[in-house]
Amino acid sequence: MNPPKMFLAALVLIPLGLSLFVIVPLAEGDAKADKALEDARKRGQVLYKQSWKKGAKACFACHVRGPNKLTGRRLKTYPKYDKALRKVVTAQEKINNMIKTKSGGAGLDLGHADLTALEAYISTLK
Ligand code: HEC
Repeated sequence: MNPPKMFLAALVLIPLGLSLFVIVPLAEGDAKADKALEDARKRGQVLYKQSWKKGAKACFACHVRGPNKLTGRRLKTYPKYDKALRKVVTAQEKINNMIKTKSGGAGLDLGHADLTALEAYISTLK
């Protein structure tokens, strides 16, 4: 290879090689992120179908059909004013309140992985 050709080859190959250092970890990061989200949704699905106390109802029991059918689109309307709570609430606050008032639970700290999992699952509902 003569010098000008070598220069051209370097001009193409060096950025190509460097870009691999960026692209490969990014792709790995995507796989990890996808898996984490999928796990959260699966956990949320389990929680959605269980009640927090014997004899209490699961979310699913009241929200699968009818006027209270829950969908991702509905969840997107938060934050909004909640009549029952008499203030503007986030989706997590509303979900947490449902756990306490309808599903027999004690409620969770906001940001708790289980609350986020429920939110992640509900957001997939059509
Ligand atoms: C016994 C029935 C019942 C159970 C169990 C129940 N809910 Fe509800 N939920 C309702 C009713 C009725 C409403 C509408 C009145 C209100 O907003 O308080 C509602 C409202 C909601 C809303 C607001 C919907 C909107 O359009 O703004 C969300 C979100 C919600 N529930 C999530 C849940 C989750 C998550 C669970 C399980 C932890 C759950 N609910 C358990 C009856 C129930």
